Amino acid sequence: MEFFLDTANLDQIKEVRELGLLDGVTTNPTLMSREGGDWREQAALICEAVDGPVSLEVIGTSAGEMIKEAKDLVSFGPNVVVKIPMIPEGLKALKELTERGIKTNVTLVFSPNQALLAAKLGATYVSPFVGRLDALGQSGMEGVNQMRTIFDNYGFATKILVASVRHPMHVLDSGLIGADVVTLPYSTILQLMHHPLTDKGLAAFLADWEAFQKGN
Ligand code: E4P
Repeated sequence: MEFFLDTANLDQIKEVRELGLLDGVTTNPTLMSREGGDWREQAALICEAVDGPVSLEVIGTSAGEMIKEAKDLVSFGPNVVVKIPMIPEGLKALKELTERGIKTNVTLVFSPNQALLAAKLGATYVSPFVGRLDALGQSGMEGVNQMRTIFDNYGFATKILVASVRHPMHVLDSGLIGADVVTLPYSTILQLMHHPLTDKGLAAFLADWEAFQKGN
């Protein structure tokens, strides 16, 4: 399973890269706006810092606008994946971008049928937003499970990129289901690493060793 970082923050990207856990990055207009400054400069720096796919999202809502933006976004680097919203105009744009060989990530996916449409049109990734569904009392991960079954039934190459991750259970369930990628907030990566029994166990080992050394 690949780990993408769901951020536009360069410090977070560098930290996770140093851990050796960075397979790619996903951004969206909200994440980019949080960083402030010139978004073009930020996008270029992110593409340069990441040795893997970087999703940059279009803002337009017509197929024509999305295709035009996509052509601009891919100029930021060979690793750019164009993020397209799951709306009818987005699907039109997706078809065209697939034909042009541009990598795509269909975002704001909330149902297995939406994912099926994106896969039929050759999306590179589909991004089911599990946390936002859970917040409405619907199971985000159940939808991902159904997507996995549908994609496997028909041999779709589209990768399932679990997004809107809120906690480590989403990561565990993604692994059990066989999702291809999870995109994680920085805070969730930290949560995955830590366990109180690890800290307690290490403290005890070090204390015992120190006592042993003093006794010699
Ligand atoms: C990823 O591609 C999405 O933009 C992101 O995971 C959305 O997550 P949110 O629900 O925390 O905004």
